[in-house]
Amino acid sequence: MRANIIGTGSYAPPRVLKNQELERIVDTSDDWITSRTGIKERRIADNETTNDIATKAAKSAIKAAGVSPKDIDLIVAGTVTPEMLFPSTACFVQANIGANRGIPAFDVSAACSGFLYALDVADKYIRSGISKKALVIGVDIFSNIIDWKDRNTCVLFGDGAGAVVLSAEKGKSGILSTHIHADGHYWKMLYTPLGVASSPFHNKPAEKSYLKMQGNEIFKIAVRTMGAACQEALDSNGLKAEDISLLIPHQANMRIISATAERLGLPEEKVYINLDRYGNTSAGSIPLALDEAVKKGLIKRNDIILFVAFGGGLTWASAMVRW
Ligand SMILES: CC(C)(COP(=O)(O)OP(=O)(O)OC[C@H]1O[C@@H](n2cnc3c(N)ncnc32)[C@H](O)[C@@H]1OP(=O)(O)O)[C@@H](O)C(=O)NCCC(=O)NCCS
Repeated sequence: MRANIIGTGSYAPPRVLKNQELERIVDTSDDWITSRTGIKERRIADNETTNDIATKAAKSAIKAAGVSPKDIDLIVAGTVTPEMLFPSTACFVQANIGANRGIPAFDVSAACSGFLYALDVADKYIRSGISKKALVIGVDIFSNIIDWKDRNTCVLFGDGAGAVVLSAEKGKSGILSTHIHADGHYWKMLYTPLGVASSPFHNKPAEKSYLKMQGNEIFKIAVRTMGAACQEALDSNGLKAEDISLLIPHQANMRIISATAERLGLPEEKVYINLDRYGNTSAGSIPLALDEAVKKGLIKRNDIILFVAFGGGLTWASAMVRW
């Protein structure tokens, strides 16, 4: 039994924040942001929450799959910016889309690798025969956790959501492999210390705080881990880089993506890029890019698609799919 992606969907809030507008907020320039990152603009959720945008992406994936919400028997969402500490984003989506009561619904926390972590979990439920139709979501609203006075970070991120419906099917197509990894020793590279420990029994009360990042360090680790993750996916499937029809990488920085593609020897037309329009949408990034690629007709039956991501944790992950 393999998990086939039978529908994709995405949603990005309509409010566009261009680099030029950021020039008025912090000491930066369109030139700097474009040359160092490749980002030109990003979307910002002003009146929408994580649950709202996750629900919109989920509904569009279910519609594209041509199934009913009642067919879904598992919901897994990757996010580190849930609307509430609990219930999970997946539980809210379950109620919002009218999925059956009683099905499992939960979130996984792996920052920008969140969607691939969620996909890994759902794939295992399908392979083991427990789930027949799973809804997998990647969603984040980083505009809520960014310090809008910090030019080192606020220019990089945006808000967005994407989703896929997986269906258990026999045959050669579907998810061929998933690999997920973490190294908590590197947690200080990228984190958001929004502590929840604020009881009177704590001598250090929790404070409102923002995302912190060691940009240069994470850049180097990202290039190394993305390259290694791609190679691991190829090796475990007995494939070569030339077998890849399309690489859909986590959209963090154009220079990280180019270095990853270069290591693989992949030409740029085989790499899907949309970070110029969305920035880094964390767990939303890969499913948002996948949905765009599908809608543009860039993916056809039997194509080999490779997804690769890295993020806070540190975490990194890959998924190889035969469409
Ligand atoms: C953040 C990043 C774009 C910085 O690019 P860089 O080429 O490494 O730039 P540096 O950190 O060396 O900074 C160079 C200078 O630009 C300045 N700078 C930083 N942000 C700036 C901005 N938005 N506008 C203008 N100048 C900026 C720095 O202060 C520094 O100035 P200094 O030399 O006077 O100290 C890059 O390191 C990166 O993308 N890292 C990975 C981040 C990431 O992907 N995080 C998410 C992981 S999922």
